[in-house]
Amino acid sequence: MDLMTVRSRSGDYQVAFRDDGDWVAELAESENAFVVVDELVWRLHGQGCLAPLAARPLHPVPATEELKTLEGVAALCEEMIAQAAKRNATVVSVGGGVLQDVTGFLASVIYRGVRWIYVPSTLLAQADSCIGAKTSLNFRHFKNLLGTMYPPQQVVVHTPLLKTLDDDQYFSGLGEIVKLHIAAGPEAMAHVEPRLTALCDRDEDAVAAAVRASLLIKQGFIERDEFDRGDRRLLNFGHCFGHAVESATDFGVPHGQAVVFGMVLAGLVARDRGLLAPDRFDEVTTRLLRPALPDPAALAGLDRDAVVAAMRHDKKRTGAGLALVMPVDDWRLILVDDLGEDEALQALEALPSALPPGPADRA
Ligand SMILES: NC(=O)c1ccc[n+]([C@@H]2O[C@H](COP(=O)([O-])OP(=O)(O)OC[C@H]3O[C@@H](n4cnc5c(N)ncnc54)[C@H](O)[C@@H]3O)[C@@H](O)[C@H]2O)c1
Ligand SMILES: [Zn+2]
Repeated sequence: MDLMTVRSRSGDYQVAFRDDGDWVAELAESENAFVVVDELVWRLHGQGCLAPLAARPLHPVPATEELKTLEGVAALCEEMIAQAAKRNATVVSVGGGVLQDVTGFLASVIYRGVRWIYVPSTLLAQADSCIGAKTSLNFRHFKNLLGTMYPPQQVVVHTPLLKTLDDDQYFSGLGEIVKLHIAAGPEAMAHVEPRLTALCDRDEDAVAAAVRASLLIKQGFIERDEFDRGDRRLLNFGHCFGHAVESATDFGVPHGQAVVFGMVLAGLVARDRGLLAPDRFDEVTTRLLRPALPDPAALAGLDRDAVVAAMRHDKKRTGAGLALVMPVDDWRLILVDDLGEDEALQALEALPSALPPGPADRA
């Protein structure tokens, strides 16, 4: 077993990389465990690697955005109280970012905070969201408006869980992996680039190594800036345009894929401002970003005005213009707050011709 310790103001916590078979039995033995599992993950793995959890009362829930609400938390509180779980309870949750957000919020408020062990089951959650201590709920029509900072005491990463992910979910996680490697600088970019073919083929060793490398990169950012006031904001790279692309396509483009489009768009703005050399834009787009996009046709018919309108409403907006994390020089990231709507539109218009044809269309 391999351990990574993440330093946090609310107490250090551990990520355990477990490829042995004992971790589930150990989880099932946690003191007064309240076990919440993504119901699809339970269907797929409940008779397999997760079987020892069946010895405990189990609460399967659907991983929907509706679960990430005060009502969703209230229902879990009732089940937890009915199970006579007291202050000594441990919330054990297995699932992707939806399960992470709702059970993290639950663990942070019930009895003013109980122990929490989290087993991420999507690539996005394993490689990125499982550390960083953010929990979020949707409120009314606002996504992730409510939340707490509450890290799990322990994260257990078991990459074989990822085998059952569908391609949309898988490539969504891959987009965030590429983002983290760009954020970490030229050395990390050069490290991941030759591994992209294996990652696109979902090679198990390549995936396990990339999950670990991504968490190490993210660890650096959150330990320097746990509360999102400095460097950590650079991890929003690709998200300024990305969130807007998601919302303009009615979430038809999976999150991490929208982030890849967002990184290309931010690169186009930088190139047009003369802050990123055109050949460096082309090189990184061709070698790192395009390979992580299985289906650029997802953007056919994109309503560009709707994307700009969505950016205008982004809650992270500050200053006179729109906020954007932009790659300059050699893809070093900077945060600006003066993106004009005309520039954003121009980048959106240039996007189709900026994406080179990809590796022969993956089936
Ligand atoms: N707290 C944070 O720091 C943070 C960061 C990023 C995203 N998020 C939130 O996470 C959510 C997205 O999370 P996500 O992308 O991990 O996915 P998810 O939890 O929405 O799950 C996506 C789909 O994959 C299924 N699934 C999960 N694990 C599976 C497996 N092993 N095999 C097969 N199917 C599986 C789920 O049932 C669901 O249908 C959003 O609500 C987002 O706001 C939170
Ligand atoms: Zn993201």
